[in-house]
Amino acid sequence: MKLQDKVAIVTGAGRGLGRSVALAFGRQGAKLALAAKSREEIDQVAAQLRSLRKEAIAIPTDVSDEDQVNQLVKQTLETYGTIDILVNNAGARGPIGPIHSTSLADWEQVLRINLTSAFLCAKAVLPTMMEKRAGKIINVATTLTLRPNLTPYMVAKAGLIHFSKQLSRELKDYNIQVNVIHPGVMDTRMQEDIRKAGTKAIGTDMFERLKEEGILGSPDEPAKLILFLASDAADGINGEYLSFDDKEVKFLISRP
Ligand SMILES: NC(=O)c1ccc[n+]([C@@H]2O[C@H](COP(=O)([O-])OP(=O)(O)OC[C@H]3O[C@@H](n4cnc5c(N)ncnc54)[C@H](OP(=O)(O)O)[C@@H]3O)[C@@H](O)[C@H]2O)c1
Repeated sequence: MKLQDKVAIVTGAGRGLGRSVALAFGRQGAKLALAAKSREEIDQVAAQLRSLRKEAIAIPTDVSDEDQVNQLVKQTLETYGTIDILVNNAGARGPIGPIHSTSLADWEQVLRINLTSAFLCAKAVLPTMMEKRAGKIINVATTLTLRPNLTPYMVAKAGLIHFSKQLSRELKDYNIQVNVIHPGVMDTRMQEDIRKAGTKAIGTDMFERLKEEGILGSPDEPAKLILFLASDAADGINGEYLSFDDKEVKFLISRP
C-alpha cells in the first residue's frame, strides 16, 4: 500500500475533495486525523474509514484559529505519535463582489481561511517533520485564471501557491516536500454554492455549463493527484504547482 502506517492530517475532510482524499489515503493504509470546522461530517467520514478497518479520528478545528490548529496537531501526536503528511485542503470562497464594496473584515477572513490556515498548520506540524527529516505537505489552491469579483479568494489562493514554493526552498534540506495543486472544477458543495450565487459576476458561465452537460468532475479524481504527491513515488517533486487539468499531470498519476 502506498501510505502504509503513514499519519496524515487532512483539513476540510468532511466533504468534497477533503473527504475523497481521506478515503483514498485510508484505502492506502494511512492513519488519519480529519479536521473541519463542524463535527458531523468529519465524524461520518471517520466512521466510514473505521468500518473499513482503517484508523481515523475526527477533530473539529477552525483552521484559521491558531489555538485550534495547535490543538489539532497536539491531539494527532497524542493519538498516533507522529505526523508524516499534511493536506491543507480546507477553503471557502467568501463573498462575491467588487473590491470597492468589500469590507476589510471579509478580506481578512477570506485570507485567514485560505492562506493563513496553511501557514498555521505547516508551522504546527513542522517541528515533528523537521526532527524526523521527512514529510509531505500538499496545499490545495485553484486556477491562476482571473475571476473578477472573487478577488480576496483568488489572491489568497495565489498567495498559497507562492507560500508553497517559498516553504519548499526553506525545507529542502530536511527531506520535506511541499507542493500545491489546482484540483480542477469539481462537483462539490463549493461549486453548488457558487452556481447558486450566480457565476456571471465572476466572468464565466463555465460552471453552469459543465453541470448541465453532466461533465463536472468528481473530487475522487484530483484526490488521486494528492495521493500521488503524498506517496514515496513523489519524493523527487518539490515546490511544484500542478494543475489537475494538465494532461501531463493526468498521465503522471495514471501509472499504477
Ligand atoms: N470545487 C471546486 O471546483 C474547486 C476548484 C478549485 C479549488 N477548490 C479548492 O478545493 C478545496 C476543497 O474544496 P471543495 O470543493 O471540496 O469544498 P467544500 O465541498 O465546500 O468543502 C470544504 C471543506 O472545508 C471545510 N472548511 C471550510 N472552512 C473551514 C475552516 N475555517 N476551518 C476548517 N475547515 C473549514 C468545510 O467544513 P466546514 O463546513 O465544517 O467548515 C469542508 O469540509 C478548497 O480549498 C477549494 O478552495 C475547489
